[in-house]
Amino acid sequence: MIRSPASTSLSRQKLAIAMVGLPARGKTYLARKLSRYLSWIGQRPAVFNVGHYRRLRFGAGQRSSFFDPADPAGSAARAQVAEEALDDACAWLRGEGTVAIYDATNTTRERRATIARRLEGEGHRVVFVESICHDPAIVEANVRATKLESPDYEGVDPDEAVRDFRARLSLYERAYEPIDEDALRFIKIIDLGRDVVLHRIEGYLPSRIVYFLLNVHAQPRTIWLTRHGQSASNLHHRIGGDASLTRLGAQYAGNLRTFYDEQWRLHGEIAVWTSTLRRTIETARDLPVDAVAWRALDEIDAGVCDGMTYEEIRVSMASEAEARAKDKFRYRYPRGESYQDLIERLEPVILELERIRTPLLIVSHQAVARVLYGYLMELAPEASPFHDVPLHTVVELQSQPTMTTERRHALGPRVDLPHKFRASP
Ligand code: F6P
Repeated sequence: MIRSPASTSLSRQKLAIAMVGLPARGKTYLARKLSRYLSWIGQRPAVFNVGHYRRLRFGAGQRSSFFDPADPAGSAARAQVAEEALDDACAWLRGEGTVAIYDATNTTRERRATIARRLEGEGHRVVFVESICHDPAIVEANVRATKLESPDYEGVDPDEAVRDFRARLSLYERAYEPIDEDALRFIKIIDLGRDVVLHRIEGYLPSRIVYFLLNVHAQPRTIWLTRHGQSASNLHHRIGGDASLTRLGAQYAGNLRTFYDEQWRLHGEIAVWTSTLRRTIETARDLPVDAVAWRALDEIDAGVCDGMTYEEIRVSMASEAEARAKDKFRYRYPRGESYQDLIERLEPVILELERIRTPLLIVSHQAVARVLYGYLMELAPEASPFHDVPLHTVVELQSQPTMTTERRHALGPRVDLPHKFRASP
């Protein structure tokens, strides 16, 4: 294959993303979300949050005067921590990292020029992501939802904290120069995705980042994950297949309907997604909405092992069972999939999950529910095969801008598996 020198060097370049924007514009939220998404598409990202460095070095209790550009001591201290975070971002990209997200205000042209010079000088591609909010309601919600929770204002009266934070904000506003430098690559996100401006954005990873940022929002909402009701394959401890529900599985479908009605009264209409396999469709059949059936939500493809029990695999394909036990995340069934493959297959589902704002119930399968749970709970992709998602249980995940909380509803009926079938190889 002939490669042009330009494309070869581009593909090897690592990526630095530098956030831009006034405080309370959701930069840290976007940085965190982006980092999680990038790690789920196989990158090694890390976030370097300058506020975090500031708190480590100078303590959390700094008041607005510390942020006054006219205060030489405050300015020197802030420049010092900004440099430390940038040094660490560079070190990360020199080592194992593939993406560094530099999370700071970076609100002046001078600052952005320094960042671009430094990172491009080390051979990396730099993309600035600026978050602009014209809508005062978004800023207000941001201040209330994140700043009052921040360690900067721990133990401070909320009204006093809001007053101080507004003073800090107006200091930044005075010096703020929105990004418009022709030489830089940038993405401007206005009012959390209502408008997006792209400048000199090209290439695979930056394009995927744009696509992700187009879909992301900060509205709190609830997602319920469940596996299908017990199927005939579950009963006989066989993996895969396309079996129907058992009597107990059908009972679970009924319990799920009751649960759905209760949640509807609290949340309003709840969208429902299933896989295209019989057992999830039957589980959702009695719900009072039309479910959307996604092929991408089908269970992990066990390839030549589809329809076998774990015991049969252990006996007749011992080396496969061993390989899976050694690295369950990367192990790919012959002519089937690995968890790593499954994550890739689920990417459109994940993007749609980010996009929709309504409450959502997903009726899927063990491996799929584990992956979605891991993503929503911000856990490492490699841990996916080991999350506990039992049958006949709904996992309720409530996402807030700063965290996701979890509650489990064991709806029954109970379907305890004999121990030897409980854990797969
Ligand atoms: O046993 C039910 C099941 O959904 C199988 O169809 C699937 O292969 C398996 O769970 C996934 O779990 P594990 O990765 O632990 O084998």
